[in-house]
Amino acid sequence: DLELKIGLFGAGAVGKSSIAIRFVEDKFIEEYDPTIEEEFRKEIDFNNKKILLRILDTAGCQEYWPYIENLARGYELFIYVYSITDRNSYKEIFHYYNSIKKYKSENHPKVLIGNKSDLTMKRAISIEEGKELANKLNCKFIETSAKNGENINQLFYEIISFKIPN
Ligand code: GTP
Ligand code: MG
Repeated sequence: DLELKIGLFGAGAVGKSSIAIRFVEDKFIEEYDPTIEEEFRKEIDFNNKKILLRILDTAGCQEYWPYIENLARGYELFIYVYSITDRNSYKEIFHYYNSIKKYKSENHPKVLIGNKSDLTMKRAISIEEGKELANKLNCKFIETSAKNGENINQLFYEIISFKIPN
């Protein structure tokens, strides 16, 4: 079977684990439980091919920044996540991107995610700003909600498409 290794990167509490849990187990947990490091696995059928997805869920906490580059080394597909309610998390995307591009080319396969799209009353980052940042990183931009499931499958479809073209 084909195996794809996907890494989730971004600041603390933006919803990286929630995105993985929504995709793999189709559920949502309200309580915040900070991650140290975890790998989720899910087998999917993609264009009639069986693929094992190995999804690395990293810690957003800044204490773990020194480990990010090492973690990223073994991965091939990258999901960068900020929260649309948190401007700092939007700014921190560059930290993750700059660390990862030391080991991968600037053109490493990636998508930019603005998560928590359900929290419209708390929005701090506009869709335009999301698109602007995606242009700088040269990648697609998608807003998701791990809470209501919006665009979660599309997100994984986009990232897998880098490796398994239609
Ligand atoms: P770290 O592991 O510390 O890096 O955080 P994380 O990025 O994995 O965030 P996590 O998935 O733990 O979510 C943080 C908090 O935000 C939790 O209380 C979640 O329930 C909540 N949350 C995550 N995604 C969403 C979302 O799409 N909408 C809403 N309303 N809340 C969300
Ligand atoms: Mg987490």
